Amino acid sequence: MLYFAVTSNSFRKSSLDELNKISRFKILDEFLTSIVIESEERDFIRKLREANPVFIYNMVPLNDGREKIAEENYLETLYKKATDAIPETGKIKLECVDLNCKTSYSAKEIEIYMGEKLESEGRTIDLKKPDYLAYIIMVNNHCYSGFLEYEKMWKPFVEPERHYHQNSKYPISRSELKLIQAFDEFAPGNGKIAIDLGAAPGGWTNFLIRSGYKVVAVDNGLLDYPKFEEKGIRFKVVPSGPANPEDLEQNELIHIKANARELQGLGADFKADLIVNDMNMAPEDSVSVLLPFSINLCEGAKMVMTIKCINRKAEFHLHKAEKALVGRFKIISVRCLPSNRQELTLYAIYLGNTGQTTA
Ligand SMILES: C[S@@+](CC[C@H](N)C(=O)[O-])C[C@H]1O[C@@H](n2cnc3c(N)ncnc32)[C@H](O)[C@@H]1O
Repeated sequence: MLYFAVTSNSFRKSSLDELNKISRFKILDEFLTSIVIESEERDFIRKLREANPVFIYNMVPLNDGREKIAEENYLETLYKKATDAIPETGKIKLECVDLNCKTSYSAKEIEIYMGEKLESEGRTIDLKKPDYLAYIIMVNNHCYSGFLEYEKMWKPFVEPERHYHQNSKYPISRSELKLIQAFDEFAPGNGKIAIDLGAAPGGWTNFLIRSGYKVVAVDNGLLDYPKFEEKGIRFKVVPSGPANPEDLEQNELIHIKANARELQGLGADFKADLIVNDMNMAPEDSVSVLLPFSINLCEGAKMVMTIKCINRKAEFHLHKAEKALVGRFKIISVRCLPSNRQELTLYAIYLGNTGQTTA
């Protein structure tokens, strides 16, 4: 069986270890975070998903066959390869992933060609709610194909990053993408008030406000105030000291321009249902700066934090963060997300005061 997997090249060994725990495999092709593997395990994806991997972001099955496609009749050959195995009825979406291939066609051009040809053959293309996703994956000039029932896919896209880049705008910082993907991955639900630790220049804050939160951002650095003004976001900058919850009635954003370590929380009257933390520091320090802000969290509040892996020993850093959170937060998931392959992203739920006393 052949599979295409999105791994982490920053944590290459950890990624391969996760796969090896499921079954032995051979790497047929690789480019940056993407690998094509061959294994005798027929149920690799289900077993991997059940193992709740941190480093393997996505995996799809491939049809048998690894081919170098000749330039002559290139599109027709690809079309045949991509569509040969798809069931004859049902709505289709087609995706093409091009990784390090030197051909005259872009992935987009290939998708358009195939979509039009499928339609001319009487098939229905549905980009939003197809029955099947068919894909062509080209790695180092080798071509692979596959298809999946759309509903049974692990993740919505074979190559999510490309879609995020096309479909999202990051007016403040590219960092925003990290939180967008974390929300997609962990689905923390809708909340009203969020605390953003290490918020500057404001990418995460921007996404949170767009998602309907009022935000208290803490950072001794500057947020991109002109951009917030441009968007009509009302904000107040507080030089230091606790936030006044009433300020959030007139504003979408309060920026406390202070060091979160010195601030030690926002003052007892203030309650948030989400805390996010992207501070540049070792994970155990980051957690210790975050914990005093628990007084400002409702029980069951959600937490998203990045784990900066300074020396690439991801498991070591993760262990430190997990240890520091014990008794206070329940860790729900940890993932190496595609836009952020050098860090881990941790999602947890605040256990409330009871949790605190048992810590
Ligand atoms: C990676 S940047 C955050 C980017 C931000 N999430 C965004 O989307 O724009 C890390 C930030 O953490 C801030 N930071 C580091 N230590 C801090 C501390 N003790 N208190 C407050 N902010 C801190 C830095 O000033 C820096 O702006």
